[in-house]
Amino acid sequence: MAALASTSVLIIGGGPSGLLLSQLLHRQGIASVVLERRSRDHVLSRIRAGVLEQGAADLLRAAGVGARMDRDGLVHEGIEIAVGDRLHRLDLAALTGGKTVMVYGQTEVTADLYAARDAMDGVVIDEAEGVALHGLETDAPSASFLKDGTRQTIRADFIIGCDGFHGVSRRSIPADRLSLFELVYPFGWLGLLADVPPAADELVYASHPDGFSLCSMRSPTRSRYYLQCPLDEKVADWDDDRFWDVLCARLPAELAARVTRGPSIEKSIAPLRSFVAEPLRHGRLFLAGDAAHIVPPTGAKGLNLAASDIHYLSTALIDHYRSGDDEGLERYSERALARVWKAERFSWWMTSVLHSFPEKGGFAARMQQAELEYLLSSPAAQASLAENYVGLPY
Ligand code: FAD
Ligand code: PHB
Repeated sequence: MAALASTSVLIIGGGPSGLLLSQLLHRQGIASVVLERRSRDHVLSRIRAGVLEQGAADLLRAAGVGARMDRDGLVHEGIEIAVGDRLHRLDLAALTGGKTVMVYGQTEVTADLYAARDAMDGVVIDEAEGVALHGLETDAPSASFLKDGTRQTIRADFIIGCDGFHGVSRRSIPADRLSLFELVYPFGWLGLLADVPPAADELVYASHPDGFSLCSMRSPTRSRYYLQCPLDEKVADWDDDRFWDVLCARLPAELAARVTRGPSIEKSIAPLRSFVAEPLRHGRLFLAGDAAHIVPPTGAKGLNLAASDIHYLSTALIDHYRSGDDEGLERYSERALARVWKAERFSWWMTSVLHSFPEKGGFAARMQQAELEYLLSSPAAQASLAENYVGLPY
């Protein structure tokens, strides 16, 4: 491929945020290039989120990538909360006036987005190493990178940092222009994927003195389970039998009896963190998705926040190119952050009520117990959880 000298919107990172933005722009005739550090196989093999809010599902449909999701995704009208040996169903649809969530893996979302980019001859440059951003405070920003041993530079009107928490974009903003807010939790999640039928028809979030666990799924024949684990835990120390034994010990007996064990396809540990960088703009650079904020996965909000950022940003860029209206770009950071902080609050709250924090002492443990009792007995508390879980409006 001949080296490209310029484009309209240069997107750093070919995860869900970057691909979705390039797809939405392309459908409005706006040119973009995506620079991705890893190989496509690597990006497509990452196992991450599993639950889409209605707003995120609608955005995928608007991007023309909803067909397989609508065919294979599982629409869920409820979730279950387990406390010790009790199981309590929250009817999300009844509590929210009919809203639901879509269970459809991030791996599939990414595969659908890559297929759509390919079908439209979208430019995604993978294995782009050593990306560096230049001229962010000028009206001719650019990125340089190494591809197949050759250094290249692409100029653009705007650069969008969709390169995740460890990416280069946020780090290219001078430290004195950013405020960072962070909470690191003293545990992680050990996840296991297996081709076995799920233990329950809906997701189960389980609180137990030994630690939180989650029963999730990808399909009627593929299950995804998570266990709260210490940060220094090693995946190698968890053979499948140990995982299944610990999971079953943390679930109500009636549910544990329905867990089908089987060989793992994937096992990994993810640390839990809450993080926000403000503002989401520096000159001609805009941040979106995990590059700007991280939530602990308990509220299933990471991928959904990436989608809402891209909703605000794509609309703003389309207004800029269509009619020279820059109000959306000027207000992007403020609009996106207003929603981000509410999802941060919900994810932090879900994490705080459902996980074990022995180091916090007896009073905190009693508060947590009272919070759970209140949740399981109060329709108002359940409506609040449900409203946030299905997704606050854009
Ligand atoms: P990413 O998916 O991180 O994509 C960023 C892309 O940028 C990557 O492809 C990366 O290779 C690329 N990149 C990075 N640096 C550079 C660079 N210098 N140059 C070029 N490209 C670069 N959310 C949930 O809701 N539920 C979950 O269970 C869950 N589990 C998770 C587990 C892990 C280990 C992680 C990291 C995240 C998890 N999340 C989960 C969060 C969710 O997956 C993210 O919110 C979502 O992936 C955000 O999408 P993104 O496109 O913004 O970032
Ligand atoms: C998942 O299926 O990976 C998943 C589901 C719900 C969550 C987190 C992860 O809250």
